[in-house]
Formats: sequence, structure tokens, C-alpha cells
Amino acid sequence: MSAPVMMVHLLLERLSSSVLAREPEPQALMEDADQIRAFMQSGRSNGILNYIHFFHAVMSLPVIRPGDVVLDLACGPANQLLQIARLHPDARFIGVDASSGMLALARENLAQAGLSNVSLQLGDISRLDGFADATIDCVLCTMSLHHLPDTDMLGQTMRQIRRVLREDGGVYLADFGRLKRRATQSFFVYDRIEQQSDLFTVDFLNSLRAAFSQAELQQSVALLERELHVYRTALAPFMLLLRSVARRHIDAELEQRVHDGYVRLNAGERRDFNNLARWFRLGGLELPSRLS
Ligand SMILES: C[S@@+](CC[C@H](N)C(=O)[O-])C[C@H]1O[C@@H](n2cnc3c(N)ncnc32)[C@H](O)[C@@H]1O
Repeated sequence: MSAPVMMVHLLLERLSSSVLAREPEPQALMEDADQIRAFMQSGRSNGILNYIHFFHAVMSLPVIRPGDVVLDLACGPANQLLQIARLHPDARFIGVDASSGMLALARENLAQAGLSNVSLQLGDISRLDGFADATIDCVLCTMSLHHLPDTDMLGQTMRQIRRVLREDGGVYLADFGRLKRRATQSFFVYDRIEQQSDLFTVDFLNSLRAAFSQAELQQSVALLERELHVYRTALAPFMLLLRSVARRHIDAELEQRVHDGYVRLNAGERRDFNNLARWFRLGGLELPSRLS
């Protein structure tokens, strides 16, 4: 990121009194073959999203226990899911997505990764058909809620999460937040233009425009009827995290797996990861793991 330019945008966001209307995603489901391949490439090793996936894998550590059955809602090509599942070989993960094209790529990814603790299921996250009441230990959803068409569907999705989760279940939700200025949206979308495909750039801009506001997300998660903490990147809600209270201690074995994942990132990804962690720390959220 160009730090001085970013700081100017963040300060202007902070000072701005304008409110941008939400623009729902032109296509809620990602079905176009070129678009989904572009998204999948961006999340692979050395792709522009790889460090963000590792960041969510680390931030979600406290909510996943050994032995858990974990749902990843709108898992897409499973790049994020694989990073999380690799850290928790003793938990079982089910990725759900309504795009059969995405799930086909996810299957390819799973086969290459050789993980045996992940399965996939075609389904709509606002219905969760096929999942019985109170059978799931943990629900994750990263960078996907903005694909829902409106706050009614967001609320319906939260009711489904509440239905399938066990009493003491964990929740980790992460998404972009709605920014106040078009110029800030453009800054984030075009800042790394040389590292991303044209299709990914369009996708990224659509995502920022479709992002729900912090207030909309907070109102909807109240339907979960459990204690969730809300965190945001400092000065502006570029990214928002909503996480339930810690359910586990991070032991030395898990710490080692996190360290192994960190050193697998390239130097640029480690720098980006550290910057994102710093940005959240300024917003009040510490990393749950000691990384070095
Ligand atoms: C931007 S991708 C995010 C994928 C993944 N969670 C990640 O962090 O990389 C959004 C995904 O949401 C899926 N999606 C959108 N609406 C959905 C719905 N109602 N039910 C299930 N999946 C949905 C899309 O098909 C797409 O795969």
C-alpha cells in the first residue's frame, strides 16, 4: 500500500459526513467461468489475497476447537477454507457455496492440497438446507456477506446460522465495510493494479460498493443471540470482523502450525500481513498468536 496516500484517504473518510448508498453485487452468485478462475488465482500462493486468507486463518484461531464440525459459508474456491483447515487437522470442515462452478474449483484445490478434513456442499447460505438444528460447532464466513442482495437476506442468513449452531458454538464473520467516499474505494481497488487481473479489479470494486455498513452488520448479528465482538480497521471500516468469545487456548502445537504458515508466505505477503495486523491493532484487535 502507498502508506502516505492511504493515510490521507483514511483521514478524509474519518472527517467525511457523506454516506454512499449500497450497490448490490450485479451477480450475487459467482458463476462466470473467467471471473471465478480470476478470483481463485488471486487467492493462491503469491496471489494478492493470499495474505488476507492467512490473516483470517490466524484471527479465527480462538473460535475453532479440536473435534469441531465447522461450516464455511460461501466458501468460493476454498482458498480461505484450506488455509484454515490446515491449521486445524483435528476439526472437520464443510464448505458451502451456491455456485457449482466455484465448488468445481474448490474440488481441484482440495485435491491438490491433499487435506482429508474438508468436504464441500452445494447450498444457499440463507437456507442451509440439509443441516439439522444445533449440529454445528462453529460457523465461518469470509468476504461473502456483501454478496447477499439486501439486509432481509442478511437477517435470514443470521437466523439460519443461529438455527444450526450448537449452544456453545463459535462464530467468525469477516467482510469489507461500507466506505464513505468513492475516492477511497478507488484507492483500495487500484492501489495494486499491476498485481491483479482486470476481472479481479472489477470484482473488487463491486465488492466495496456492495459492502454492508457496520451498523447493518451489527444489527443483523444481534439475531444470533450470542456475544460477538466487532472490530474494524482503524479510522475507516475497510474490513470488519465479528467474532464470538474465545473457545480455546492456543497451545504450542497450534502455535507451531501458525508459524509454519507464516514462513510459507513470501516476504511481501508477510509485510502485508503485518500491516493489516497493525491496522486492526490500532482498531483494538490483537493477533491471537505470537508470530515472528
Ligand atoms: C467473494 S467469494 C468469497 C469466497 C471465500 N469465502 C473467500 O473468502 O475467499 C463470494 C462467494 O459467495 C458465494 N455466494 C453468494 N451468495 C451466496 C448464497 N446465497 N449462498 C451460497 N453462496 C453464495 C459466491 O458464489 C462466491 O463463491
